[in-house]
Amino acid sequence: MSFDPLQERGIPLDEQLRGWRELNVTPIDPDAADPYTRCRIITMNGIEVEAVMFSHHLARHCADLEVERQLARVRYIEAQQQKAVNWLLPGSSSVLETTIAYEQVAVDLTAWVARMEPDPYLKQAYQFGVLEDFDHLYRYANLYEMIERRKAEKIVDQLTEVMPGRPTYQHHRDPIDNVRRPYERRETEPLSRLHALTIMAAEQQTMNFYMNVGPTYMEPIARQLYQEIGLIEEEHVTHYESLVDPGESWWEMLLNHEYNECYLYHSFMETESEPKVRAIWELHLMMELEHLRLAAELFKRFDGRDPDQVLAPALPPPVTFEPNKGYLRDLLTTQVDVITLGTGYVREAHERFTRMQEAIMGGEQPPSERVIEHNRAINGREYRLETEGPHPVGVRLTP
Ligand SMILES: [Fe+2]
Ligand SMILES: [Fe+2]
Ligand SMILES: [Fe+2]
Ligand SMILES: [Fe+2]
Repeated sequence: MSFDPLQERGIPLDEQLRGWRELNVTPIDPDAADPYTRCRIITMNGIEVEAVMFSHHLARHCADLEVERQLARVRYIEAQQQKAVNWLLPGSSSVLETTIAYEQVAVDLTAWVARMEPDPYLKQAYQFGVLEDFDHLYRYANLYEMIERRKAEKIVDQLTEVMPGRPTYQHHRDPIDNVRRPYERRETEPLSRLHALTIMAAEQQTMNFYMNVGPTYMEPIARQLYQEIGLIEEEHVTHYESLVDPGESWWEMLLNHEYNECYLYHSFMETESEPKVRAIWELHLMMELEHLRLAAELFKRFDGRDPDQVLAPALPPPVTFEPNKGYLRDLLTTQVDVITLGTGYVREAHERFTRMQEAIMGGEQPPSERVIEHNRAINGREYRLETEGPHPVGVRLTP
């Protein structure tokens, strides 16, 4: 059944405020919950953080007091949604366990988006990026075994494989080569806009997380690995945000943000296995329908256009968390050695890439390689979770 968020009625803004009792959500059971429920929570937290930050940036450019007040009212509700969503995570996980869950989100969400993306240039951007977060998962899983003496399958279950992707040391590019070419806003499929916003928000949340939690570890190798991967998440945010057409007006961007929130809450409502969490997705969808209606009014008023001109007539099929093992193995076979050059992709190390590599490595092994060696030294082998047989390409690990 098709669902057109522009035609549905939500909860009036005046009735969206929640008190402490309602914001005090019951967290998921860390031992019993589906790992993909945790992935949906992390994704929606990233989306709500982006909603709040985007609205702040918009407000700083807004000279109309009444509009600024309306933005503040909606933004306060987004901030409450962010609290309700992120507080579904139980406090029992370590920073490293949450990190592994973040990289699982990056892997299975980006792989899904890559599979569904209709535009070949955008699809390539997701295929390129996913092999890097796939490798981060493997590096952090080895750190986890080393310092917490536990295995990452406790977190990812058997849903996502843990093994080398494109080796992390090869992710350090000249920043110039992280900037992609944007889609054309007048020609692009509506689904492509939603994909770009979703992955941008997810990567931004990962970047912010590593910025802040990296120095909370005392072990030198942990501190160093968070620095290294934290810098790559900066590259990933640059990579994905540059896909969005910068010619969109502020009101068009606001409309896309609210529409994407509707899309994702609707997707997760349809696919959620945990009833209490599903109830939150449903409640928040009803709130977002009203945010969308208000954004559509601003769009009509300031851009003088009809929202139907930029939005899809109905929601696309739901964003689904599911294993992508075969897809990722195919990408490993075909794209593990790809690097970026300008806004395109090549297979040979070019001068700018090599210069960046030399400058940042300083002739030493990076933390992402040392963490594997340390873990081999302690446990006699590195940590991998290869549920579908041996690694398809046998990646060499030392630069
Ligand atoms: Fe929201
Ligand atoms: Fe990552
Ligand atoms: Fe990333
Ligand atoms: Fe919203």
